[in-house]
Amino acid sequence: MNYDGLFSNRLPAPVKTHPGLGADTKYVFSVTYANPQTLPGDGFVDALRAAMRTQAEDLAKYPPSQGHVGMRELIAQRLEENRGLKTGIDSIFLSSGAGGAIQVILDAFIDPGDIVLVEEFCYLGTLAMLLSRRANVIHVPTDEQGMDTDAVRSILSDLAWQGKRPKMIYTISVYQNPMGMTMSLERRKALLELSQQYGVPIVENESYADFVIDGDPLPQAIMGMDDEDSVMYVSAYTKLLGCGLRLGYAVVPDAVKETLGKLRFGGSPSHLASMTVHQYLQEHKDEYIESVSESLKEKRDAMLSALGENFPPSCSWSKPEGGMMIWVRLPEGADSWAALDKAVEADVKYNPGPVFRANRDRPNHLRLTYSHNSPEEIREGVGILASVFEREGLFG
Ligand SMILES: Cc1ncc(COP(=O)(O)O)c(C=O)c1O
Repeated sequence: MNYDGLFSNRLPAPVKTHPGLGADTKYVFSVTYANPQTLPGDGFVDALRAAMRTQAEDLAKYPPSQGHVGMRELIAQRLEENRGLKTGIDSIFLSSGAGGAIQVILDAFIDPGDIVLVEEFCYLGTLAMLLSRRANVIHVPTDEQGMDTDAVRSILSDLAWQGKRPKMIYTISVYQNPMGMTMSLERRKALLELSQQYGVPIVENESYADFVIDGDPLPQAIMGMDDEDSVMYVSAYTKLLGCGLRLGYAVVPDAVKETLGKLRFGGSPSHLASMTVHQYLQEHKDEYIESVSESLKEKRDAMLSALGENFPPSCSWSKPEGGMMIWVRLPEGADSWAALDKAVEADVKYNPGPVFRANRDRPNHLRLTYSHNSPEEIREGVGILASVFEREGLFG
């Protein structure tokens, strides 16, 4: 068959990435996998058995269009208790991971050339989805308090002068990927005000909100403060209970619900996964989240101390209070993109900073994740990485 001329002319634009990220390595510091050491294999078996006893017949049918009802009830309850976000199950839809929810939202809003504001460095998956849709991505300066809302104000006001209205402000407001910080309460309020003033919705991604390790309690979700339908909220159980479950969700205002509904066809997670996770979390939620947090604490501390022992003072890095990643800054001129091949040869992979930037600049940054390997492996892997960087001249 010759397929020339048959492909859709709406195919995504090519997005430059680094081939090293696809390599198979022992030390995986490049992906926020769920923590394998705490994954509840036996717990899932019991939960599946219990769910099948009462709900097996439901599998014969197609699931409710917005997903498993019990799971949505559990999500609504957790959001109210933990994130100060009061919502009903009719505003929630389950998706194939947080990624699936983001994809549907972008499909509903983004045409080529549309402007989207994101943090100074932005989760590579969303960024790739934006770039492949040919969005005009504007990175906003970001510090330890999160996205700089003075900068947002000046960008929005400049654009308004030019008669331009961005389609959305996309923020990973908790343990930001890749920079690791949580947006402060003041910035959340300011961002919401700006969103309402300029009529630009916020897409709030809280994929890491379950991974509190220490530090102050998390500020309320932005959507919880909103009374003007300005925010769409995205999160998932993938990082908590397994990326392979593909169980994520979005909470959306009525004003966009119907449009998103038209685009969601086929994008729901497996109903079997929803049933099992629902059953499991009903019985084990608190103790399980606690065990993941304890394990991540050990891993984070192992990575922080290994960085302190192996990386020179010319480098600096974040000290995250939760989540799964450390953001590292190398001396000016260091090229973490070029060095990735050498690191992969030495069995270590990480994310070079440019994969989080629309124009692939800032190679003197990199992201290291600590959720996958054991603390011992993390110490070994960081040591190996430091030797590679030393050899390649990245430490200046
Ligand atoms: C901020 C953020 N959003 C979404 C995703 C995609 O996750 P999921 O497996 O839930 O689709 C990730 C994965 O790394 C992420 O870090």
